[in-house]
Amino acid sequence: MTGASKGIAREFAAAGASVVVNYASSAAGAERVVQDIQARGGTAIAVQGDVSVPADVERLFARTVDAYGRFDMLVNNAGVYHARPLETVTRQEIDRQLSVHVTGPIRMTQEAL
Ligand SMILES: NC(=O)c1ccc[n+]([C@@H]2O[C@H](COP(=O)([O-])OP(=O)(O)OC[C@H]3O[C@@H](n4cnc5c(N)ncnc54)[C@H](OP(=O)(O)O)[C@@H]3O)[C@@H](O)[C@H]2O)c1
Repeated sequence: MTGASKGIAREFAAAGASVVVNYASSAAGAERVVQDIQARGGTAIAVQGDVSVPADVERLFARTVDAYGRFDMLVNNAGVYHARPLETVTRQEIDRQLSVHVTGPIRMTQEAL
């Protein structure tokens, strides 16, 4: 599951899934989620990776298969949110939004397939 450092992966683990808790920069948050899942008897690992970076996408799947031998489900959950007046949004921010919300999920899905 991408963008899982804030806690949503707990719900999937509670339903029986072995989870890859992906994060971009929040290592401590992701580790906390993994520890919570393990404390409840679930299975989880944290894997850093930016969904907008193709090499990171490949590494995410490689680590997943290394850990679990397979995967059954991809959850494209990573997102970025910066509320501000539209006229102040920079080209860089537009590119970032597109790479995290559009290109990244497409790359993730291609790699999954
Ligand atoms: N917050 C709101 O009130 C609200 C309301 C409506 C819609 N939304 C939408 O919900 C989405 C997430 O917003 P949020 O406020 O929940 O953000 P958030 O709390 O910062 O959580 C975003 C998650 O996505 C991860 N992430 C971000 N960029 C990533 C990347 N390039 N690769 C991998 N993981 C990445 C973050 O990891 P790290 O922590 O490691 O960076 C974090 O786990 C956005 O699309 C936003 O538009 C939010």
